[in-house]
Order: sequence, then C-alpha cells, then structure tokens
Amino acid sequence: MTEKRGTSRLTGFYKRTLAERAALVGQWAGLDTLDQATLLGMAGLNATQADQMIENVIGIYALPLGVATNFLINGRDYLIPMVVEEPSIVAGVSLAARLIRAGGGFVTSSDDPVMIGQIQVLDVPDVYIAAGQVMAIKDRLLEEANCCDLTITNLGGGARGLEVRPLLDTPAGPMLIVHLLLDVRDAMGANTINTACEKLAPMIEEATGGRVNLRILSNLADHRLATAECIIPADQLATEDLSGADVVRGIVEAYAFAAADPYRAATHNKGVMNGMDAVCIATGNDWRALEAGAHAYAARSGHYTSMTQWWADDEGNLRGKLTLPVAVGTVGGATRVHPTAKVAMKILGVQSARELAEVLVSVGLAQNLAAIRALATTGIQAGHMRLHARQMAVAAGASGDLIQRVVDAMIAEGAIRLDRARELVQQMGGRASE
Ligand code: MEV
Repeated sequence: MTEKRGTSRLTGFYKRTLAERAALVGQWAGLDTLDQATLLGMAGLNATQADQMIENVIGIYALPLGVATNFLINGRDYLIPMVVEEPSIVAGVSLAARLIRAGGGFVTSSDDPVMIGQIQVLDVPDVYIAAGQVMAIKDRLLEEANCCDLTITNLGGGARGLEVRPLLDTPAGPMLIVHLLLDVRDAMGANTINTACEKLAPMIEEATGGRVNLRILSNLADHRLATAECIIPADQLATEDLSGADVVRGIVEAYAFAAADPYRAATHNKGVMNGMDAVCIATGNDWRALEAGAHAYAARSGHYTSMTQWWADDEGNLRGKLTLPVAVGTVGGATRVHPTAKVAMKILGVQSARELAEVLVSVGLAQNLAAIRALATTGIQAGHMRLHARQMAVAAGASGDLIQRVVDAMIAEGAIRLDRARELVQQMGGRASE
C-alpha cells in the first residue's frame, strides 16, 4: 500500500468500527497486509520471539493499541499510536490536540541525544585531587569511549565531555563521581553508555589509585531535554456553562496548585506520563527510564513540582510548555524487534530519536491539558462514567448499536451497574451474558 499520509484531523474517527479505523490508518501510513494483520492481533509477537526477549517466559500479554488523532507538530501531521489499558486517555489527548491545533499546533525543540554515564570512584585519599587526576587524562578517556561503539561514532555521535562531581558527605564517606557525556544518536543508548563506562573504569582507577564500584547510565538524562509549547485561543476552551476566559483561568489555577503542592504534582504529572508512557510502550521504548528521568527532573529544584507550565498571555490565550529529559530510541531495543512496535513506528513516521522525543513531550503536554481542562470544568467523572458504562454494556452482552442504547439508558438512569446493563440488554432484545 502506498502512503497516503495527510491530515491527522480525522473527524469522527472514534465513531468508525475497529476494522474501518485500522484500514484508514493503514492507508494513511502506507501499511502492508502483514502490518495490518499484526495490528489486528492475527500476527505479531509470538511465544518464540517472546522467549528470546526476557527470561522464564510462559506466555504473552496483550494490551489495546489506539491511535490519537489531530496532532500537528512543527507543521507536520502525526497519528500517535498509544498502548494503554485506561479508558479516556486516547480520547482526551486527541481532543486536546484538536484544541492545540486551533492555535497552530505544537512547537518543539530538543537537545542532541547526549546520555550521562556515571562512574563511582571510592578509596581515594582526596576526592579533589582525584578529580584533577581524572580531568588530566580527559582526552584519552574520551578517545577510549569513542572506541566502544563505532557505529555511533560513524553516524556523528560519540563522546562529548567529562564532568567530575566530588560527593563529600555520603553514607559511605567521600567519593568522586565521574560523568561521561556521550551522544548516542538514534539509540536510547543504555548499552552504549554502560559499555563505555565499564571500559573507562580501569583507566580511572589507574589515574586516581582509587576503586571503581558502579558504572551505569543516569536516567536523569538532563543533557537530552525535549520541549513542546502550545497556544490555545481562549474561545476554543469555552464550554456550555463557562466562557473561554473562565476555563483559561481554571486551567492556570490547576497548574498553580500542582506547581505549589507535591501531593497534587504527583497526580498532575501522572496525567502527563499517561500519554508519554503509552507512546513509549507502543514504540517498544523503555517507559520506566522515561518515568524515572521525568520525575527526577520535576524534583530538580529540591521541591517536587509540576512538569508542565500553563499561563495566560496578554491576549488572553492559554499557553503551555513542557520540558523533560526524554531518552528514547528509534533503533535498537524492542523498537525494531517487537512486530507491533515496528508497525507503531511506521504509523508515527518519525525519522530520528530527537523527533520521537519531541512527539513524546507534545503528547505529554496535550494529555495534561486534557486532564486539567476536564478537572477545571465538568470534572473527569462524567467522561469516565460514559466509558465505564460502555464497558458494562459490552460485558453484559451488548454488541453493535445496542451498546450505545444501553449506555444512554444507564447514564439517563444514573445506574451504571452490570446487573442493570444485563436487564437492559434483555429488554432491548439482546442476549445478556451469564
Ligand atoms: C488519571 O489517570 C490522571 C488524572 O488524575 C491526572 C490529573 O489529575 O491531572 C486525571
């Protein structure tokens, strides 16, 4: 199939059947028959492949793969594959992306993909003298680091710098931490940076006379930041009951709450990660690494705070910004091994790890907007209850048009329960589940 990638503003996409949606996305992204079969669960990760990925495999665990629509990032349209078990996330982020699109879409930027590797040096008589000894052989260390992964150096990556961080007061006494900065290009880079750290350790021991203990990357990848920004015209945010200006104020107040209070920030940031994790999982990336880096970055001032910022500009528009460390790759890891992740990457159509990082922060910003817009207006339970009712209707045996009729009846009655859903299915001529 040839790629027909056009606008991601797919009106009424959610109302289509699963088969229609899969066909539409297939056409949009130029997916072939095997890709389509993979999406629909007819092909995809098999037990033999799974057995090669981790240890003690006894099976495969499936999750829904959805597509978020309406994303316009730096003038380019994206459909965003998301793997997540929680209802409302895909719908919410698509709605937020539509609002952001009305203000011109996301504007993003990112650093070069530079990872930090940490080498822990102990048993030196003076950590400052040891720091000087390490810096004295900096050029040799960087040269040695470059020999670890010639593919990355050939692609223009490689060692970028060395930092020394004496830690005087730790439970194990003074120690010197050496940071190796290494551009890993389109890889997530864990293996490359860990290999390089292990390779440098003996040279560091020799130069300092100390003992190296840990040699491992830092997930606080703050040399690898990505930023997304957006503007939403206030009128886009108006609801039946509230003016656009009221909603802007409510969202800015919601942000202020998260900025000031770690209890709220944890939930606010969970909303950001709802979206980012889902894309990370869909693309076969390490979402735990993303989570670790994002939360550590949110606490960088010593006070755990909101990952996003929201404010009103002089014209009354709502403006938002999200900057986070994003260590993800488009090569290596499960991205190129897991059959469904490969299809997700085709749908996303990103050309580099930096582009993927910029998509991720755009999704995080939009997901956060979806949550705080709902919270500052109707509350999130209204949308959740509708989805919950839908799940009840399906579990009660409804299919096709009957699902919506059962949902509408339960919402009207304010009784969203499995037993009531079963009665309604029966009354409306369907066959209720046992
Ligand atoms: C639920 O998964 C996420 C939210 O709680 C986020 C938030 O409160 O901002 C809705």
